[in-house]
Parts: sequence; structure tokens; C-alpha cells
Amino acid sequence: MPSTETQPAASTLDFIFRDLPSPFGPSSDDAIPVWPIDQESYPDWVAQQEPLWQKWASSSDFTAAKNTILLLPDTQGEIAGVILGLGQNNGLEADPWPYASLAKKLPAGLYYIDAPLSEQAAFHAGLGWALSSYRFTHYKENDPQKARLVLPRPEQAENILALAAGTQLTRDLVNLPTEDMGPDTLGDVSEHIAAEYGAQITQIIGDDLLAAGYRTIHTVGRAAAKASRLIDITWGRSDAPKVTLVGKGVCFDTGGLDLKPSSAMRNMKKDMGGAAHVLGLATAIMRTGLDIRLRVLIPAVENNISGNAFRPGDIIRTYKGLTVEIGNTDAEGRLILCDALTLADEEQPELMLDFATLTGAARVALGADIPPFFTDDHQLAADLANHAAAQADPVWRLPLYGPYAEQLDSPIADLCNVSDSSFAGAITAALYLKNFVEKTPSWVHFDVFAWNMADRPGRPKGGEAMGLRSVYALLCERYKS
Ligand code: BES
Ligand code: ZN
Ligand code: ZN
Repeated sequence: MPSTETQPAASTLDFIFRDLPSPFGPSSDDAIPVWPIDQESYPDWVAQQEPLWQKWASSSDFTAAKNTILLLPDTQGEIAGVILGLGQNNGLEADPWPYASLAKKLPAGLYYIDAPLSEQAAFHAGLGWALSSYRFTHYKENDPQKARLVLPRPEQAENILALAAGTQLTRDLVNLPTEDMGPDTLGDVSEHIAAEYGAQITQIIGDDLLAAGYRTIHTVGRAAAKASRLIDITWGRSDAPKVTLVGKGVCFDTGGLDLKPSSAMRNMKKDMGGAAHVLGLATAIMRTGLDIRLRVLIPAVENNISGNAFRPGDIIRTYKGLTVEIGNTDAEGRLILCDALTLADEEQPELMLDFATLTGAARVALGADIPPFFTDDHQLAADLANHAAAQADPVWRLPLYGPYAEQLDSPIADLCNVSDSSFAGAITAALYLKNFVEKTPSWVHFDVFAWNMADRPGRPKGGEAMGLRSVYALLCERYKS
């Protein structure tokens, strides 16, 4: 019997929308300086210090190697300053991770960076600090980050905190196991976010999907215990430029009757990673109030098996009217996405972006850290590449190579959901989606992994937002009022 004194665990929604202490603190005379120093300049720097620190430095084996720190004492034994080792070359401009590593190692206290940082370096410092404070604590406690930072450029707080909040949401949603993050909870989370930012939301649930013509969404999810749904959020003034986000919300992917082997199924709670990305991105957008008319569409299902599961060989009439033959029930993401993309395409947004954990082939091509993206809009591709470099949030363009589309031909339906070939699986998946985007002038599809395979400072093992910062930066550049 559970003890009556046991506190009930926080509800999943209470956990997701928990209040966290800020990783940042106000500027103060008591703040402890941090000196970022590379290996080359370190000996000269030491030589200029008072004898106590020279002695301290020489009795430590610190060499300013990358991501190492040295705490420097005052005569009372308190921390008077910290050296952040930058290694061989000055990695300050490059990425947020040295600062994530620093934040993780420092004892409790308020710190400031005592160095002239460029705008970009200052942004990385704040972001690294904020991202390293993330903990997934719904089922097990984890020591919070105790060191706080005086933001080098306080005017960057809004964007940094928006990205940190969006990333945290994406990570939480992916990390939550399917039992607590089914299509119903994804709907509840969306309702909560919509209410918080004054957005409109509708949900089409269960058999209502059939009545409304979203047969692919209904069919993929019909064997699951929890009903499928199409979540539709709209926010912003109605005559602002229309930007639509679409996210794959497969809360668990067993593969369906084409069942995945256990090793491939193990992590498939993360198959709603696309939905998690668009909700995280939407949060950042609404928080900072970009001047767009934002729409977020999430088809949310569980791809499971039961007597009524859809089968290989079945043919579904999509919302668009095209018939699709099921070559493999494990290629379910593109099925639910195609109906959502058709709906999104109806109102011809200026820009449409979809995020999906769509193929294993994307990982074979680019590995776990770099999501491929697909678009016919060369300007958008170039802008994305630039923002990806500046944000240290890599994405890489792969081609929507038209001639491969014939691999999706079916003799008895308008198209098949898979190719017979095992080559170029990420491209053929993207080409499948392309059939459903006709009117939208600019569309980009991201095939995201949504997962860190190992712990790194600022990037804990588990759910991860990928490409979110690059896209947010692009949207800010285009639409910040
Ligand atoms: N959710 C998977 C893709 C996936 C697998 C993403 C592992 C990230 C990590 C998707 O639904 C799927 O199963 N795709 C198949 C497609 C195939 C049947 C054409 C795949 O990639 O094997
Ligand atoms: Zn699948
Ligand atoms: Zn899937």
C-alpha cells in the first residue's frame, strides 16, 4: 500500500509548466569575475598576477585546456575569480558549450564574464548558461545548477530566455514517456500554451477526423487506445504575414504491423519530436511577440497494433484526394503529415516549416547532430545555412531530387508511402511530402533526430531541440517588429 503521507507526484502538465529559478542574476559588486583565457596567453596572464595567485596557479596542473576551470582564492579563502580555459584557439565566438561546461562546474554564486565579448559571443555565453540549467526531474530529483550569471548584454535576455524556454519545452515533451505523453496530453499541452499566449485552438479528435476527411491521421492511429487528433493553433494579428509550423506527433512508433525490432522501438517515445519542436518554437515566437500570423498544426497519434490496425497493402484516400498505398506501416509519419500539410497549404502561408522524426536514413546520411532540411527555396536555404553557423545549431540541405519521386509510384494508387529501394530514404520521404504542398511559395521540411545520444555540457542525454535556434533566428530577422 502506498503511504498516505506520500505526496502525489506533480501532474505532467504541472511539471511541464513548472516555474524555475532564473539562471541569471542582476549585476552586483559581489559578482565573481570569470576570465576566459586561451592556452597561449595563460603563462603571460599568470606572470602578471600577485604572488598568491602565481603560487596557486603553479601548484595546480591547470593549463587553460579547453573547458577546464581554475578557481582563484582571496586571502580569506573565498573565490575571488575563475579562469575559464579556452584551449588552443579562442572558441569564444564559436558556440555556447564552453559556457555550459563552466556553469555546470562552478559552485553556487553569482558570476560575470570579465572580458570584452562580441554580441555573438555574449549571446552564446548566456544561452550556454541557460541551456545547461535544464534538468528532467519529473520522475527523479537532479541537483539544480547553482551558479548564476550576470548576462554580459542584458538586452539579449528576452531572446535568450525565449530560446531557453522553447528548448526546455521541446526536451521535456520528448523525454516524457508515452504513458504520460500520448496524443491526449499533447492536446492538453497545446491548450495550455494557447491559453497562455491568447491563441485560438481547435482539436479534431477520434472519429471526427474521418468525418472531416483526415483519413490518414485516423487510420495510422486507429489501433491505439488513445484517440488520434489534429491540433490546430492560430496566433497573432490576422493580417500579419502567415507562417505555419507542422510537427509530426507520433507519440509512440511501434512500426505498426510492420513491427520494429526491439532495439529500433526502444526510443520511439521520441517520435513526437517534430510536434515538440513546433511547440517549442511557437513558445519562443509568441513569447517575444514576432509580428506574424502563426499557425501550428500537429497530427497526434500512436502507431500501435491491434485487430483494427491498418495493414500493408491497404489504400487510403488522403485529405487532398490522392490515394496512397501502404507499402510499410512503419512509414507512418509521412501519412499523418500529408493530411496536415494539405490543410496548411489551403491558406497559402508565406512560409511553411515542418519538423519530423521522419527517417532513420537521415541519421545514416548526417548522423545524430545534424538535421537535414529540404526546400526548393534557395534564398531560404542560404539564410538557414547562415543562421545555423551563427547560432552553432547545425542544419544541412539535402536535395528534393525530382527524378527519385518515381520510386514512390504505385500501380494501383496515386502513390505508395515507401520506395522499394533502400537508398536515399530521407529524400524519398521528403519527396512524398512535397506532393501535398502545392500553393505555399516557400516550404521547408526538417528531418530531426530530436535526441542527444550522450551527455555533453548544455546538451544532456535525451530529448533535444535541433534547428530550433536557427529557425528562430531566421524568423526574428525576417519578422521582428
Ligand atoms: N520514426 C521513424 C523514423 C526514425 C527512426 C527516426 C529512428 C529517428 C530514429 C519512422 O516512422 C520510420 O519508421 N521510418 C522508416 C521508413 C521506412 C519504413 C521507409 C525508417 O526510417 O526506417
Ligand atoms: Zn515508423
Ligand atoms: Zn515514426
